[in-house]
Amino acid sequence: MRVLVLGGGAREHAIAWKFSRSFRISGLFAAPGNAGISEIGTCFPDVAETDAEAVLKLCRENRIELVFVGGESAPAAGVVDVLQENGIQVIGPHKDAARLEFSKQFSKEFMQRHGIPTAAARTFETGQHTEFQNYLDDLSGMIVLKKSGLAAGKGVLESADRNELLRFGRKVLDDDSLIVEEFLKGFEVSGFALCDGTNHVLLPFCADYKKARDNDRGPNTGGMGAVCPVPWLDKSEIDRIKAELIEPTFQGLYADGLSYRGVVYFGIMVTEEGPKLLEYNVRFGDPEAQVLIPLIETDFAALCSAIVEGKLRKQVTQMSDQAALCIVVAAPGYPDDYPQGILVNTLPADIESDVIVFHASTIGDRDELYTAGGRCFSVVGLGPELLAARGSAYSAVKQVNFEGAWWRNDIGGRIFGM
Ligand code: AMP
Ligand code: GLY
Repeated sequence: MRVLVLGGGAREHAIAWKFSRSFRISGLFAAPGNAGISEIGTCFPDVAETDAEAVLKLCRENRIELVFVGGESAPAAGVVDVLQENGIQVIGPHKDAARLEFSKQFSKEFMQRHGIPTAAARTFETGQHTEFQNYLDDLSGMIVLKKSGLAAGKGVLESADRNELLRFGRKVLDDDSLIVEEFLKGFEVSGFALCDGTNHVLLPFCADYKKARDNDRGPNTGGMGAVCPVPWLDKSEIDRIKAELIEPTFQGLYADGLSYRGVVYFGIMVTEEGPKLLEYNVRFGDPEAQVLIPLIETDFAALCSAIVEGKLRKQVTQMSDQAALCIVVAAPGYPDDYPQGILVNTLPADIESDVIVFHASTIGDRDELYTAGGRCFSVVGLGPELLAARGSAYSAVKQVNFEGAWWRNDIGGRIFGM
């Protein structure tokens, strides 16, 4: 099978790496890819993942049989629709379904329509500055504001500061809808399910560390680390998540004709009243993919074939009983402005079976490697349980050396009471 992975982050490196370990793969390509992916496949750094015509041309020229879409930007740009119209099998949502991620207003209405527990919310349309201000006057305490459209992690504000809320909300309302939401207290987990259009399989839960600094302080980031599974999520919580969030979502997707062949991501807050849905995404999480994908034991190409052929029900999805922990190594300044093109002096040797290093947006090659983004590497440790995985990841991450490299020191800390 000849496969193209769309994207160039550590998530896409994890996807490509998994494909590279399948005996069914006869060609592995990525667009744009990164320096890590180019060690296992052919990258097309000049092809933007959102450029449907360029991606289609690449597929034709390289006889691509299956495209795995890593992120949300290509589906939002309609790339999946174009590929499917041209007979190419794709793992990723068509544009209609991608609204679950790129329109928070759409996804909130979906949750409400299908009785899926979520934070109470009210939506204001573009230009409703006065209505928003009046509504805010009657609220107090912590409030959550969300820009409806895609915002690369910068579209949500949690605050109790009225001026800050007003400033943020008014700015959003200049050109987008704004969702004003009840602030939920609890802990977050990420759920992932594979869907073939009519059937779905739930994968183990992951947890993501979204704040920049240790002990969940500092600004939000794309994610500074992840663990899988989540030992602090107990069976009764998992049962409620399945019954109250996951099953009704799929029933809703099937009923509304919105299902697709790909990954459904559930951003969940486990509160004292039970689990509530924060958001949907239509792809694997980053960095959650870096811990989840290495634990999939089923041949990845076989699993992906089952998804695109609508045969998930006949395919066993076998997961390793190991644990995985990911530490994200970031550039100085991230998530604010950061320099690019920093020379990478050393990386951990990836000969040890309990450590994997995934690149994010790197350029160059093994001999002369440069950073090209804010989150630069994902160092993943594997072990029989999280404590061992954590030990492997933290001893390996010290070998990542470039000017200003930093990471959080408390990933997975919660389980050990640290
Ligand atoms: P979202 O893009 O909707 O997942 O929001 C990004 C992050 O903001 C989430 O991962 C949460 O940490 C936080 N967040 C979003 N909605 C809420 C809420 N209603 N209550 C508390 N925190 C929230
Ligand atoms: N880890 C959060 C995300 O991928 O959206």
